Amino acid sequence: MGKTTIIDHPLISHKISLLRDERTGTRDFRNIVEEIAALMAYEVFRDLPTENVDIRTPIGDASVPVLSGRKPAIVPILRAGLGMVNGLLSVMPSAKVGHIGLCRDEVTHEPREYYVNMPKHIEERLVILPDPMLATGGSAIHAVDFVKKHGCRGIKFMCIIAAPEGLSALEKAHPDIDIYVGTLDKGLNENAYIVPGLGDAGDRIFGTD
Ligand code: PRP
Ligand code: URA
Repeated sequence: MGKTTIIDHPLISHKISLLRDERTGTRDFRNIVEEIAALMAYEVFRDLPTENVDIRTPIGDASVPVLSGRKPAIVPILRAGLGMVNGLLSVMPSAKVGHIGLCRDEVTHEPREYYVNMPKHIEERLVILPDPMLATGGSAIHAVDFVKKHGCRGIKFMCIIAAPEGLSALEKAHPDIDIYVGTLDKGLNENAYIVPGLGDAGDRIFGTD
């Protein structure tokens, strides 16, 4: 079974409050999304396995832990997930990066896939799917379906803000994945936007509203 972690950390909460503020402009918004992704990475990668290797320090011999196990692949959900990639790469620079392009239909709110590109042998990797927003859950569920069809297991989804509706839907559709949430908001409005949320994450990252 997977687990859901709501990350309750003052640094992350403070930065999410800055994102919510409509006065925060594109440059700051983009930088803060990246910073939050890097901070969340500590929790997302907390259970990475390690193995001990023998080295010599300037003082003497030591058996020390290094990362072992499957290598990670970061697969952002385009567009907005792209904003989290550099933050994750800042702590995991050797990760491969894939892409899943999804956009929500404005009326039905169902995701439409428009682009995919996966690293080779993705099924051998630990897959991390970042997307700032989990609203109805449709996009996240579709992305997890996609990587599972490629044989991936041990999948982690991470978002900055989730609506309870989307979180429940994702947990129900994919009970085996780990989910990391920066903060849980009240719910969705009639346009399936998160309330209070931060607006359209992609538009605010790329300045396209
Ligand atoms: C946003 C967001 C998620 C999705 C969440 O993307 O980044 O991918 O909506 O909504 P859901 O949980 O109801 O599926 P959007 O489709 O607006 O595309 P964009 O990233 O290109 O702006
Ligand atoms: N996508 C966003 O970018 N924001 C929302 O609140 C919901 C979906």
